[in-house]
Amino acid sequence: MTVIFESDCNRLKVFSALTGHEGNRVAEEVEAGLTASPRTLPSKYFYDARGSKLFEEICDLPEYYQTRTELALLEEFGSDIMAGFATGDLIELGSGANRKIRALLDALTAAQRSLIRYVPVDISETALIEAAEHLLELYPNLSIMGLVTDFHHPLERLDPSRRKLFLFLGSTIGNLDDDQATEFLSSVAALMDGDDRFLLGLDTLKEPAVLERAYNDAAGVTAAFNKNILSVLNTGLGANFDEGAFDHLAFFNPELSQIEMHLVARREMEIAIEGIGLSFVMDEGESIRTEICRKFDRTRAEAMVRRAGLHVTEWYTDSADAFALALLEKEGATI
Ligand code: SAH
Ligand code: AVI
Repeated sequence: MTVIFESDCNRLKVFSALTGHEGNRVAEEVEAGLTASPRTLPSKYFYDARGSKLFEEICDLPEYYQTRTELALLEEFGSDIMAGFATGDLIELGSGANRKIRALLDALTAAQRSLIRYVPVDISETALIEAAEHLLELYPNLSIMGLVTDFHHPLERLDPSRRKLFLFLGSTIGNLDDDQATEFLSSVAALMDGDDRFLLGLDTLKEPAVLERAYNDAAGVTAAFNKNILSVLNTGLGANFDEGAFDHLAFFNPELSQIEMHLVARREMEIAIEGIGLSFVMDEGESIRTEICRKFDRTRAEAMVRRAGLHVTEWYTDSADAFALALLEKEGATI
């Protein structure tokens, strides 16, 4: 289902539309992942209301350098990124608490802001609506059209006649494997014209110890975030996962340049997911991979976006090269 909301006299008007076959898709995805070898779950299922809050806590952890580094880049290069983008839609995919968009909105004058529309897109309904309400308090004249949907689905509500700047921040692209990333980037590229742009946030490849610390914080917030996926399945699909019977595991896989998050069974147990009629036995020590977080250097990022018909026009990074923002346009586009 896609829920759409729009700002109207500083209020959000929420209306639902386009009820699809979401329920079937969830069942198919969960069954396919949990019966695969090794077992996996799509990481988008972390994000119910609690999962979104836990992710916000992760963003403020000392070990999780990504959010503050990317925010600093947006503050430093915001005017550069927004230069020439005076009208049209700012479309943020996987917007979450949309704290980063503020850096770009602040790079514009109030008059310029009144000419653009912000279009946050996220699967987490409560997070998206709360964030949009907060944004309207901060920028009362901002026009917002929010879409609660899976960003892999076609964004058919977009207006082809409006100029577009797509934003996909936080290195959420790293949570997609190579094929998923190509498919996703191609679907965005298909919505772009020659003068549209795409700002992509990427976590960079760095010392494994630094990467592993970011996903094994001392306060245990990432572990709670990881285990929350089980409670999402318990609530949404009537599963019987015992969160306490799983350990959080996150490590760097050097061959694939990715952090992997897993949930490891502490004992043998029978898992039943009533909502999809699935049951199976997990052995002690067996794991479910819940997320991949791929890390990029410029060459790898350029190759990835090229497969989707895009190319890098600007590459912004910090002095330690800890995070990067790539500004993309369509192959063959002219400014
Ligand atoms: N962009 C924000 C949030 C990143 S967390 C930042 O940089 O801090 C990833 C966000 O993407 C979450 O808000 C989650 O709800 C959303 N998300 C994950 N998978 C999604 C999907 N398939 N479709 C739509 N939103 C998704
Ligand atoms: C949203 N995504 C880019 C985060 C990441 O780092 O891959 C999700 C996350 N998982 C554990 N910590 C944060």
